[in-house]
Amino acid sequence: MCGIIGYIGLKQAFPYLVGGLEQLEYRGYDSAGIALCADELRIQKAVGKLSEISFEAGEGTIGIAHTRWATHGKVSIENAHPHTDCGNEIAIVHNGIVENYRELKACLIENGHTFRSETDSETIAHLIEEFMKRGFEFEDAFRNALRLLEGSYTILAIRKGERKLLGARKGSRSLCIGIAADGIFPSSDVLAFLEWTDKVIYLRSGDVFVADDNQTVRIYNMAEGRAVTRPVDCITCSTEDAKKCGFDHFMLKELSEQDETVLRAIQQEEEGVRSICDTMRHAFGTFFIGCGSSYHACLAGSYIFSKIAKVHVNTVLASEFEHYEDFLTDNTLVLAISQSGETADVLDAVNAAKRRGSTVVGIVNREGSILTRESDALLMMNSGLELCVLSTKTYTSQVVLMAMLAYALADKYEEGLKKLGGLYLDIFNLTSRSMRDYLEQLAELLYDKDHIYLIGRELQYATALEAALKIKEVSYIHAEAFAGGELKHGPLALIEEGTPCIVFVAAENKAKILSNAEEIKSRGGYIIGVAPEREAIFDFWIKVPEAEELNPIIQIIPMQVLAYELAVLRGLDPDKPRNLAKSVTVS
Ligand code: G6P
Repeated sequence: MCGIIGYIGLKQAFPYLVGGLEQLEYRGYDSAGIALCADELRIQKAVGKLSEISFEAGEGTIGIAHTRWATHGKVSIENAHPHTDCGNEIAIVHNGIVENYRELKACLIENGHTFRSETDSETIAHLIEEFMKRGFEFEDAFRNALRLLEGSYTILAIRKGERKLLGARKGSRSLCIGIAADGIFPSSDVLAFLEWTDKVIYLRSGDVFVADDNQTVRIYNMAEGRAVTRPVDCITCSTEDAKKCGFDHFMLKELSEQDETVLRAIQQEEEGVRSICDTMRHAFGTFFIGCGSSYHACLAGSYIFSKIAKVHVNTVLASEFEHYEDFLTDNTLVLAISQSGETADVLDAVNAAKRRGSTVVGIVNREGSILTRESDALLMMNSGLELCVLSTKTYTSQVVLMAMLAYALADKYEEGLKKLGGLYLDIFNLTSRSMRDYLEQLAELLYDKDHIYLIGRELQYATALEAALKIKEVSYIHAEAFAGGELKHGPLALIEEGTPCIVFVAAENKAKILSNAEEIKSRGGYIIGVAPEREAIFDFWIKVPEAEELNPIIQIIPMQVLAYELAVLRGLDPDKPRNLAKSVTVS
């Protein structure tokens, strides 16, 4: 979603702001802007991708910058951040939604303020101005303005003539501060300043900070009503993760890393895994929640839990979780799965669970993210940074971690680790050059199709859903997954001569799914089989090893490659699909 970076320090802010914005690009955006503070406040804004925008270098050792992903108001220069007050003296950047902005704006307009954008964010600059008009200093005016805002947010603010950078975080929006020898970098993401420092302070909800050019950061928590100190942590992810390292796209790089990331996922403290299992054993009701690919991982995980541990879990889309709140007790376990640890719907669901006293276990990739701090227990995916908007390596790591928990729950921990570790070579082969060439042939057959359908049963149904998501996100081809048994209840009406259908076959339910494939074939469908053996019905065969309950980890990989090849053939950027964002911080 929106990305925010600021700088205050001894050097010129401009190169840091532009460099930071480039690193935040992966989050998805449609416009960007920079405010620099020297004697004057200088604002530049533009619409489009960063590679198409050229900001003019300017003087100033204090500045803020923003990449916007439109929510309130269309994509336009006026609606891009930073936003300023009437006097063009105060500049703010904002991520979040000011839920009560209509009332605030009406009141400000009554008090003589003139608005230039359609955004909720602009209200913040005018509110600070209003409090300053009433005699408050910049810092106090900022805090007073925050008190009036409803909703969660990350905000940075600067003002002409002030040698300070102010910021605040509330609710599900993240804000961290990079601390370097010659400057301070507040940002929504460590990635923005990773090249310049590995020291970071993660702010908590309700924290307001003031950074000055003496390199000091003061933090005050609004909820606690007092000054607080927050630890300075060391960032462990490497800058290599943020580079393409010879690959054409992050998507290809990241999906090719899965042989290793699967191994890294299983490197967990046994005690921690066992203690989560104990909580599961005693829980009255377990929910797996997530969004997008993470939800599909939940679904795959629920099948794996039934098979290995003989335990029933409820899988719920985090965005639908509020309808289940009444069933939560202090004995319920909620397993929240999120690559970013920032997804607003997941964080809202976690807050609901905590209000009811339920235990929350997080499965997260991004260190320092909000979910890592909101969870009672945590399993880190250890996948390294994932910058392509699409989840690939983090999806497989999520499934790996759920399988690991299921094995532990069934007292088969060691056996399970061996089985999971043994996937290494198969995954390596599935992302090899020859496999890519083979799947490129399939992509050539499919790239101009309007529809692709996918079917699977049980575990393979979860894979079909995830594969359809990969294809549609990155190639914009309509791809839809069905459970094999549902075909007769509607989807068969969609099959015409030549309609491509991908069929996921596993030993366990081979007869049933092949009979579903037959139903499609007899109506003219073109059958692409993802299976350990070639079947007569296949028009195209993608060979995968049979991995039983771990099939979801294996079978998705050629689908990720296929989706990638489809995007490339269609001339699309696989790393930044239109209209999508890596971290969805609005619910
Ligand atoms: C966005 C991303 C998806 C991701 C989903 C959930 O929609 O584009 O790739 O699966 O968010 O993200 P999370 O960080 O919670 O796993």
